Amino acid sequence: MTTEAPLQWAANPNPESGERTASLDAILPAGALQSARAFHRQIPGYRYSPLKSLTGLAAMLGLGGLWVKDEAQRLSLSSFKVLGGSFAIYKFLEKRLGRENQGLTFAELTSPEVREQLGEITFATATDGNHGRGVAWAATKLRQRSVVYVHSKTSTARVKAIESHGARVEVIDGTYDDAVRKVERDARKNGWQVISDTSWDGYEEIPTWIMQGYTTAFSEAQEQLAAQGLVKPSHVFIQAGVGALAASCVGFYHRLFGDDAPISVVVEPSRAACLLESARAGDGQARHFPGDLDTIMAGLACGDPSPLAWELLWERADVFAAVPDYVAAKGMRVFGVPLDGDPVVISGESGAVTLGALMFVMESPEGDDLRKHLGLNRESQVLLLNSEGNTDPDYFRRVTWEGVNAVPEEHRYRALES
Ligand SMILES: Cc1ncc(COP(=O)(O)O)c(C=O)c1O
Repeated sequence: MTTEAPLQWAANPNPESGERTASLDAILPAGALQSARAFHRQIPGYRYSPLKSLTGLAAMLGLGGLWVKDEAQRLSLSSFKVLGGSFAIYKFLEKRLGRENQGLTFAELTSPEVREQLGEITFATATDGNHGRGVAWAATKLRQRSVVYVHSKTSTARVKAIESHGARVEVIDGTYDDAVRKVERDARKNGWQVISDTSWDGYEEIPTWIMQGYTTAFSEAQEQLAAQGLVKPSHVFIQAGVGALAASCVGFYHRLFGDDAPISVVVEPSRAACLLESARAGDGQARHFPGDLDTIMAGLACGDPSPLAWELLWERADVFAAVPDYVAAKGMRVFGVPLDGDPVVISGESGAVTLGALMFVMESPEGDDLRKHLGLNRESQVLLLNSEGNTDPDYFRRVTWEGVNAVPEEHRYRALES
């Protein structure tokens, strides 16, 4: 039986890629990075997430350096996602209070006086787990309510994690994309405020703030790299669901370095590869990825790109890639059982997929053409973002202890066979 190849990819076919700035300016206008940073810094419990150097693995793969921005402990919420939801809620409230760009502090925002001024607000969102948890956490901190819609395949552990932050969770039939559409309809009926990480026609301000919020992770990483004597990574592999995180990453580096930005590879599950599909279509229009999006990478199981994110990626990303579940599972195991001297990284399915993808690019025959296209070699400094920790403990053990989603025989690392 032939099994799915470890990797498919396409270079960004946009002939004007890298030349335009419209989308970059709209999503990350001057001051946006600093404003997100200044907000997050005030949150009690905020600290930099670690930047881990996997020196041994870099040498083994034939790279100059391998850096992992580890979001597994971000504000004790197990994922980077809270950076976006919290910043969007902050910006929304600032606007509602008529105090935009006046440096409203987190302490003021959580004060009983401001709560009284604002009245009762219910924040609503659809999620595949991590975003909803961040929104619930932020709403509770601000003494407000939240309603979170999840699709029926969402694990009990993920639902419980959201509820533990005070949200009411509604389980709906269908996929993540169906949950997005339903929460939008229900919010209109009930007067809720939607805090969605994906955008649609007429709903762009909040998803923009969410992308701005994510940049804090990359701002921190830049400082941490500078402390190691590096100006920037040469390559970044970034995972994508609706593409907001990837657009934030690619946008951040283009804001800082323009044409000298790191070469970017956007990585998706092959069963939910809406960005790769959109790139392959070649006309700049976002495409829907059909089917039931059946992948273990719950955070990346999205059939529709966020139009805002897609626009920026079409403008700026270098390569779109898609990989099967066994690639993510391999990434989880390698992170958890590192080479001697390398740090342990606890990473869930969506968090580990970029490490799995990078390993196949560097080590498998199917990775040859992409490795050459990207110019990956002993000079390269590659940045990955571990976007989640152990967010689904039951499945985490099945992968790491029991070996589910093993790499198929014909795609195993060649050196092991010799
Ligand atoms: C752990 C994790 N990584 C990556 C992503 C991808 O983010 P985006 O949907 O913005 O592409 C998500 C989204 O929920 C996620 O939960």
